[in-house]
Amino acid sequence: MSIPVTARFPVARPRRLRRTAALRRLVGETHLRAAQLVLPLFARPGKKIRRPIRAMPGVFQLSPDELLREAVRAHQAGVPAVLLFGIPDRKDARASGAYAQNGIVQQTVRLLKRELPDLLVVTDVCLCEYMSHGHCGVVRSDSRGTRILNDPSLVLLARTAVSHAAAGADLVAPSDMMDGRVGAIRRALDTAGFTETPIMAYAAKFASAYYGPFREAAESTPQFGDRRSYQMDGGNAEEALREVALDIQEGADIVMVKPALAYLDILHRVKREFGYPTAAYAVSAEHAMIKAAAANGWIDERAVTLESLQAMRRAGADILITYAAVEVAQWLAA
Ligand code: PBG
Ligand code: ZN
Repeated sequence: MSIPVTARFPVARPRRLRRTAALRRLVGETHLRAAQLVLPLFARPGKKIRRPIRAMPGVFQLSPDELLREAVRAHQAGVPAVLLFGIPDRKDARASGAYAQNGIVQQTVRLLKRELPDLLVVTDVCLCEYMSHGHCGVVRSDSRGTRILNDPSLVLLARTAVSHAAAGADLVAPSDMMDGRVGAIRRALDTAGFTETPIMAYAAKFASAYYGPFREAAESTPQFGDRRSYQMDGGNAEEALREVALDIQEGADIVMVKPALAYLDILHRVKREFGYPTAAYAVSAEHAMIKAAAANGWIDERAVTLESLQAMRRAGADILITYAAVEVAQWLAA
């Protein structure tokens, strides 16, 4: 974009519009609102359980009753949506807990939709939390070595998404990065009669060290290898645009870039290129870094959090997924 025509100093004095807070607000370009926020929550079986996550102060693994309390708090603060992850009692090599009719996410969705019908419930659709090996797809080991199989994973992911929709999920959010999963999920939802359930696709999801604290929260650390054969390489921006294009062609209604702060250029290009509703996920280590520095008194937690989210909005994000959603909503209301 070229710089449009402007006046010159001393006729032009940009500081004229910065003189008072009211003037600055009048010409403000980027707005943060509670209505844009999504709060991730971790559900685990049991009652009255609140297990803190070491590297994520303020974030807990919650039994459904406790998770409902957090959801009520978020809803009352003006946060319109939660994103659910599940930690099952048992893991296996088919991720059966992911699509069990009475699985932890399915149960929690039913509870939330019964008690808080206006709260939007988004479900993370993946297999890693439910697989004994912790990978996001089906693993095969044979004489050719060990690999993550793509197409067999699609069947399980589609089954998982349909089970979430059947429990009442308002949106499903596949985070696995298998090829073709958005299309497979769209077809399965439509066939099951859930033509109105939108898909929020983790479209440009990078293999990232910023997911460290999350893996403790979701107990989903891969038992061998890493996720680089399915998640994207951090240096690849053109490929990220192709990934987003594929997801849109397959039926994604909302596209996501993840992580957020270290990938603002991707966010900007995705929004400009496609103009789709775009989400940014401020991931676990982004949260951990702010919390740790703030706990040491090195930064102003509120100011740094709001400035980071503002940067995501300015780069092109419509939707902000953040572990700080409740505090942010409260700060915005104050
Ligand atoms: C798993 C998943 C991950 C996150 C969301 N879904 C971790 C991973 O891919 O290893 C990361 C979220 C965060 O770090 O806050 N499919
Ligand atoms: Zn996964």
